[in-house]
Amino acid sequence: MSHTFTLDGKTISFEEGQTIMQAATKAGVFIPHLCYHPEFKPHGSCKLCTVKVNGRQTASCTMRAIAGMVVESDTPEINDERRTLTQMLFVEGNHFCPSCEKSGNCQLQATAYHLGMMSPHFDHFFPDRPVDASHPEVLLDFNRCILCSLCVRASRDVDGKNVFALSGRGIDTHLIVNAKSGQLADTNFTLHDKAAQVCPVGVILKKREGFAVPIGERSYDKQPISATVEAKQEGY
Ligand code: SF4
Ligand code: FES
Repeated sequence: MSHTFTLDGKTISFEEGQTIMQAATKAGVFIPHLCYHPEFKPHGSCKLCTVKVNGRQTASCTMRAIAGMVVESDTPEINDERRTLTQMLFVEGNHFCPSCEKSGNCQLQATAYHLGMMSPHFDHFFPDRPVDASHPEVLLDFNRCILCSLCVRASRDVDGKNVFALSGRGIDTHLIVNAKSGQLADTNFTLHDKAAQVCPVGVILKKREGFAVPIGERSYDKQPISATVEAKQEGY
């Protein structure tokens, strides 16, 4: 049975059990998000996807659609808050877009462009996060981790390996590798793992391939992140 709700005045159909994010994506409407991935159970941590439902804020990736609800997403107020969250993500890690090999394929960078973010606004934390280059095929650059937990979920739920985990609390939360040494080389992680493919930023990088596709010819160089919503209808 199909129902409808309105999203920024547009009528959106949904099926029982679908979230606002799923229904909006299916309808071709982009809602900014970072920790949501259509193949995984929502995590609800980044809050980029926050919308107003009947005037109250909620994460659209976890909130089930209800017939008749009035949802606001693309408003100056909500986008201001999303921009602030994005700026905080930039200063909490070490993100240097011009020298990052994920530039043009990075969802954080593309989201910042989408939201019209012109500067980080806040003081940088400059955290000390050593790179893990121990694995023969994959480099881990923790400097860019936004703690979306997609690699954690992919490794646990798809690969059945539990290679990654989030450790610590609050501002001390960080990504760890589940090995006694803490090194990726001491796990059974491979390049073919789902976890090797889901990072929305530039943490999990295939070695010796960084600039095979030149900057300027990458996904978000060719089209804004809002235009990729169709590819996300069935998973990407
Ligand atoms: S490494 Fe990437 S996928 Fe994993 S938690 Fe950090 S940002 Fe998310
Ligand atoms: S995408 Fe919904 S909280 Fe991150």
